Amino acid sequence: MEFHNLLIENKERIQYIIINRESKLNALNRDTLAELHVAFDAAFKNPAVGGIIITGTGAKAFVAGADISEFANLNVDEGTALARKGQIEVFNLIANGNKPVIAAINGFALGGGLELAMSCHIRIASETAKMGLPEVTLGLIPGYGGTQRLAQLIGKGKALEMILTADMITAVEAHQYGLVTHVVCPEDLLIKAEELLQKILLRAPLALAAAINSVNAGFTDGVDGYGIEIAQFGKCFGTKDFKEGVAAFLEKRKAAFKGE
Ligand code: COA
Repeated sequence: MEFHNLLIENKERIQYIIINRESKLNALNRDTLAELHVAFDAAFKNPAVGGIIITGTGAKAFVAGADISEFANLNVDEGTALARKGQIEVFNLIANGNKPVIAAINGFALGGGLELAMSCHIRIASETAKMGLPEVTLGLIPGYGGTQRLAQLIGKGKALEMILTADMITAVEAHQYGLVTHVVCPEDLLIKAEELLQKILLRAPLALAAAINSVNAGFTDGVDGYGIEIAQFGKCFGTKDFKEGVAAFLEKRKAAFKGE
């Protein structure tokens, strides 16, 4: 598929997925969401990709939300379908991915933009970033998982305050809330994202996938997170990476994992 709203760049085992609608502050229209679905699906299946960094073009925005111009005339059924499709095809796909995804928040991350960042496994921000869920100013609520993931990440009280006031918070506040794990100057954002991901990519790939699955399980209704952890822990013993990890420790050398 040819992408019109995304740039894909590969740097060794890191794949960059860059939202490229700078004139609209990288707002997520239908085409961009469809492209994100294809790009993430392909990255998760591509053995040459170890992990993904998602960011936005330009200095101003990561993603300034869903494209408001596209949903002005939707009715109840269409609005419901929009949220369902977006959640399943993009936001849950990323959250449940088998490879680590880091959101490098380079500017405004609002509405669907913050929901996109929250579906990633790790978030880091430029000190110029601003984050918020302004949907109630439009007569809406977050529909791409925002009411759930924000409360999981920062707690119900702060999440409700952010959602009900629609206030934007600064990167420093987001760090204090635990919404992002690092705040750096703009020029260091991708350097920090790569540094983090490079470190993660030294670890055993199947164990990374198992850890993501296990942590997510604890936040999934009706799923026994502790039970999933036991099952995933057991599965690791059947991998070549486990044998390599233990052998490398005993032989006092660095492990060379193959994801097998
Ligand atoms: N959907 C569609 N277009 C958007 C958009 C969105 N979510 N966010 C920004 N844009 C467009 C603007 O319409 C404008 O387009 P134009 O130049 O063709 O008029 C362009 O991006 C630049 O935005 P602008 O509002 O002029 O920039 P600003 O610096 O004055 O304000 C924001 C920046 C982020 C505060 C403001 O754009 C904004 O509030 N955006 C909407 C945020 C939002 O409510 N998101 C949640 C949607 S559910």
